[in-house]
Amino acid sequence: MTSDSTTSVPTIRPGLVWPDNRGRHIQAHGGGIIRLNGTWYWFGEDRAEDNDPARRYVSCYASKDLATWEFRNQVLALEDPESFGSEWVLERPKVFYNARTQKFVMYMHVDGRLPGNASRYSVARVAVAISDTVDGDYKYVRSFRPFGKESRDIGQFIDDDGTAYLIFESRPSQGFYIASLSDDYLDVKEIVSFIKSPLEGGAIVRYEGLYYVIGSALTGWWPNANKVATAPSLAGPWSEFTDIAPPISHTYMSQSSNLIKVTGSETTTVIYVGDRWRPEEIWDSRYVWMPVRIGNGQLELPAPVPWSIDVETGRVQY
Ligand code: GAL
Repeated sequence: MTSDSTTSVPTIRPGLVWPDNRGRHIQAHGGGIIRLNGTWYWFGEDRAEDNDPARRYVSCYASKDLATWEFRNQVLALEDPESFGSEWVLERPKVFYNARTQKFVMYMHVDGRLPGNASRYSVARVAVAISDTVDGDYKYVRSFRPFGKESRDIGQFIDDDGTAYLIFESRPSQGFYIASLSDDYLDVKEIVSFIKSPLEGGAIVRYEGLYYVIGSALTGWWPNANKVATAPSLAGPWSEFTDIAPPISHTYMSQSSNLIKVTGSETTTVIYVGDRWRPEEIWDSRYVWMPVRIGNGQLELPAPVPWSIDVETGRVQY
């Protein structure tokens, strides 16, 4: 965002308009963030007001400091790919880099109304798209229900050893799944864990040998008390869920989408990445990014304030 005169690194201001290098509010809602060769790439739903209403868009931004973001490309500008219907939905895109095939593989939640169904979220599938470059034009491949299961909100987790996992929420099972991906990442391979708790917006981080999973309750665009559980291994056993913030704050009016781990030379900082949705003006939905207090099985989101991070050292300033 803007430069702060007291520090050499720019400030992140949770909840405010977040301009990109063109001065436009970043369009990367329900986003996913990956790091490649010292650059972070942020992908998310591009809900810009001037987009073609028949298409659904994903945009990609790049940053070296997590605060100033350069718009790279609308990497997907998709017309209804499989006759999902005029109200079709593309949400929560996440991109994985597959070192074996050297392709970038995007997962997204696609949805629409099944014939005769009241809900515009009854298709309940994931879709994949592929690109040779991180910010190139992604080519739609297909959609499917992972392991035949209904899938709505998705999340991504890349473990410290580079293994990639897809998180997906499944209403009929009242919980969410962590799944490994096939060698080419174009399919799911195996269910690593099923967490029987009705949560979405799932995100995971590994910190000091413990896995932390966070998620929100199922209240649509309206924010609720997001929760955390931990486990010594991705397969579990998972602890009970506890609130990450005072419930009355509704997670400071946000919903989880990601946890970013910044491993610096001095310290490791974990950043909560959430969306403050504004369903009536969805393009103006805001981002709530804050470093969390984490360790010994606890993860707490402090009240949002402006902050900055030195990504070399991992140190945060408020
Ligand atoms: C939320 C979900 C969003 C979007 C919204 C629609 O629960 O996390 O991605 O699907 O519902 O109501």
